[in-house]
Amino acid sequence: METLYFDLRATRVKQQDITEKVGEAARILRQGGLVAMPTETVYGLGANALDADAVARIFEVKGRPQDNPLILHLSGQQWLPRYCANIPPLAFALARKFWPGPLTLVLKRRNNVPDIVTAGLDTVAVRCPNHPIALALIRELGLPIAAPSANLSGRPSCTTAEEVMADMGGRIHGVLDGGPCTVGVESTILDMTGPQPRLLRPGGVSIEAIETIVGPITVDKAVTGQLPDGERPKSPGMKYRHYAPRAPLTVFSGAPDVTAREMERRMCPRTGIVCFDEYKELFQYQETYSLGPYHDTAEQARRLFPALRAFDESPCTEIYAQCPDSRGLGLAVGNRLKRAAGFRVVECDAQRIILGLTGGTGAGKTTVLELIEEMGGSVIDCDKVYHRLLDENEELLFEVRRVFRGAFTIDGKLDRKKLGEEVFAKQDRMALLNRIVYRYMVPYLEDRLGAVVEGLCAVDAVNLIESGLGRLCDATIAVTAPIEVRVRRVTARDGIPEQYARLRISAQKSDEYYRSKCDYELNNAADTPEQFRREAKIFLRRLIEGLQEEKRYGKKKGRVTRE
Ligand code: TXA
Ligand code: MG
Repeated sequence: METLYFDLRATRVKQQDITEKVGEAARILRQGGLVAMPTETVYGLGANALDADAVARIFEVKGRPQDNPLILHLSGQQWLPRYCANIPPLAFALARKFWPGPLTLVLKRRNNVPDIVTAGLDTVAVRCPNHPIALALIRELGLPIAAPSANLSGRPSCTTAEEVMADMGGRIHGVLDGGPCTVGVESTILDMTGPQPRLLRPGGVSIEAIETIVGPITVDKAVTGQLPDGERPKSPGMKYRHYAPRAPLTVFSGAPDVTAREMERRMCPRTGIVCFDEYKELFQYQETYSLGPYHDTAEQARRLFPALRAFDESPCTEIYAQCPDSRGLGLAVGNRLKRAAGFRVVECDAQRIILGLTGGTGAGKTTVLELIEEMGGSVIDCDKVYHRLLDENEELLFEVRRVFRGAFTIDGKLDRKKLGEEVFAKQDRMALLNRIVYRYMVPYLEDRLGAVVEGLCAVDAVNLIESGLGRLCDATIAVTAPIEVRVRRVTARDGIPEQYARLRISAQKSDEYYRSKCDYELNNAADTPEQFRREAKIFLRRLIEGLQEEKRYGKKKGRVTRE
């Protein structure tokens, strides 16, 4: 079969050409053919989604397993009710915020969506791509386009039409060339069918951005780690080896200085290197592909798939890659790298354990923190960090000033008392302030933790989960205790009447909340403080040993909210 090539790169064609060529591509789709199209994430291999035979051919030409469903590409949220049922209001809110854009929502399907598209599931994945050519094609067809990434199954996704031609040339009817993709990794997939949105695949929209709209979301186990044999992932695609370059890949995760040194120590002359700009010089005698600056995860996302394809024509016998941290698009980049490596991951900071501690007042968190210090660990008090940022960070203050004008004096100084009065009186104002501060707090803490190369470190935060700080930890621990025990302790500790202690406790989140959000629970029902100390010490020792073991053997636990 001859593959028609349509050059629609912006600088070379006129609007009329685009209309004509998109029209021709739509005709091919209407006749049951396959056309590759640019999107902002990666190139997609499109078929008319309502034509089951055409969709079947997608699976054939990609060599894609039949049980891996496809995404429906829509022209906007107005099409959602045509193909999805029981759509929660939150789904519309997300679509309003992020569409067109790299966010895919999994919703209950309607029966007009062919079984082959959803691989027989009762849900369907939908998104609206942010690319003028993809949108023009969907509108011209007047129907959704089913499109997986336009690569051969198992290979890195394509971010240029040239790569699509290399993988798909001769197998499909046409390729629309819209230039290189601007995002570079696939869309974020969010399952909206459960009680809380669940991240099935990290991608072009960061978790942080989603959480500003919907609050904390659950991260599926398959995102951060390898599922145990036999366990079925929620997103079928997550079980397959993916994105693989021809030479075997090993990923080095940890602080970038440490990973660079470890790669240098292990490499041989024919090792290809994927590294951050800052470390290029270390590898000047190797074949090297740079991912961009360490802090620029958007650039890393754009260069990721080209990096994985870059060594295909080279004599390299293996590839080593530095892994970004999980901030912003780093989570998606790291996820693709680890999958491309078949989870061959060298944890370069296996000797470093970071514990996140949270829980209500009077439960015994302070005791646990003291124990950690006695064990030689350091403790970061996030309450202090919060206040220090409010004192010192100009950019943060600028943002706070925009929404809390009344809390600033005429000469622009923050009046803490006024700010306090405002946020304690209104929950939504408090939530807003928190959201702003957390945006600065997470990177700040990530930098501080990045400097911890080995040893034990505890992050103490009441809002460990909501702030996103929990994701920086190897394990999160909820310290809980029966209400009566807490009341007694707070009364004695703070010298306040019992009823105030009760009020204070009831104003906080319940133990049940912390329990459901953390990886572990340390319940303080001991008769005496000494007994709790003893129990907590044993708990911590076991936990730390277990975590070290997991890291050493490369089976790092996902930072997931517990099911
Ligand atoms: O950015 C993207 O999403 C690109 C562009 C072309 O839009 N598309 C893409 O498609 O990455 P694909 O087929 O390579 O990945 C789709 C993923 C698979 O992992 C699949 O298992 C998952 O979406 N998926 C599709 N339908 C699903 C459903 N109903 N429930 C859960 N996961 C689903
Ligand atoms: Mg794919």
